[in-house]
Amino acid sequence: MSNLSMQGKICLVTGASSGIGKATALGLAKMGATVVMVCRDSARGEAALSEIKQRSSSGSIDLLIADLSSQEAIRRLANEYKSKYRQLHVLINNAGVYYTKHHVTVDGLEAMFAVNYLARFLLTNLLLDIIKQSAPARVINVAGAYHAKGKINFDDLQGEKVFEGQRANHQSKLADVLFTYELARRLEGTGVTVNCLHPGMVATDLIDKDKDFPVFFKYLYKLSKPLMRSPAKGAETSLYLASSPEVEGISGRYFVNKRIAQSSLESHDTHLAQRLREVSERLAKLA
Ligand SMILES: NC(=O)c1ccc[n+]([C@@H]2O[C@H](COP(=O)([O-])OP(=O)(O)OC[C@H]3O[C@@H](n4cnc5c(N)ncnc54)[C@H](OP(=O)(O)O)[C@@H]3O)[C@@H](O)[C@H]2O)c1
Repeated sequence: MSNLSMQGKICLVTGASSGIGKATALGLAKMGATVVMVCRDSARGEAALSEIKQRSSSGSIDLLIADLSSQEAIRRLANEYKSKYRQLHVLINNAGVYYTKHHVTVDGLEAMFAVNYLARFLLTNLLLDIIKQSAPARVINVAGAYHAKGKINFDDLQGEKVFEGQRANHQSKLADVLFTYELARRLEGTGVTVNCLHPGMVATDLIDKDKDFPVFFKYLYKLSKPLMRSPAKGAETSLYLASSPEVEGISGRYFVNKRIAQSSLESHDTHLAQRLREVSERLAKLA
């Protein structure tokens, strides 16, 4: 992968302070891209930035701080990006969280819905003008295989009546796939492609960060980590979609292991996708 050159390309990666996002930012930097890392915590962001600079020997890496659970912070991020850069060739929506318990954001939204999906919807829409101007350009959403278990529960989208961590996570990932396909349809003919992916089971700190994850299952998760993919391996499909000429012009697809894969039947429901977009526009105050 690192034989491919991304010289002259500007790539923004959210959630670049750890796990798959950090490995993706490193891979892009090694390919010569200008990489803009988005991290929520400045100390963690700075640590990742200096590690990536050192390991890639690249001087073209920038760090923007934004808590993507806040719509105000997302708007500030989009403005800051546009004030510094005139182009965006690759947007990788990667940041994600897992919570066993119900967490509510400053905007009053359930946190997994907000960070894993709505933040991507809002950020992508706010950056869409600059992305289109940079065409050919690519938007990549790190979704997950668990989208297939997801249902979009419009009667209780924020889990206020009934909340179950896994269910909310699956819903957020199905929303990512529906959003990918819907945006790809809307961007046909613009030179901007939109794809999503499952990175595999990757040994990251995603679950460790959830302080309410049951101790016994946390222990089992820790035991199974050596059997999982490394973050570098988990970043391969993101890097492939960001850089490979093989996927030039391919849009509205779900990838696993750098190959087009079948996503759930529900993820192809265009009425569901349209309804989700309308609700999302209202929740993100874009409508
Ligand atoms: N690991 C897997 O097996 C797996 C499987 C399928 C899909 N995924 C997806 O892959 C993506 C990356 O996850 P990962 O496994 O690499 O986990 P991770 O190491 O915890 O990385 C998640 C990244 O998102 C950032 N983030 C979380 N909340 C944020 C917020 N409010 N604002 C800004 N950034 C925020 C984290 O920042 P901090 O460093 O500050 O926490 C971190 O950089 C997620 O979307 C996840 O759902 C992972």
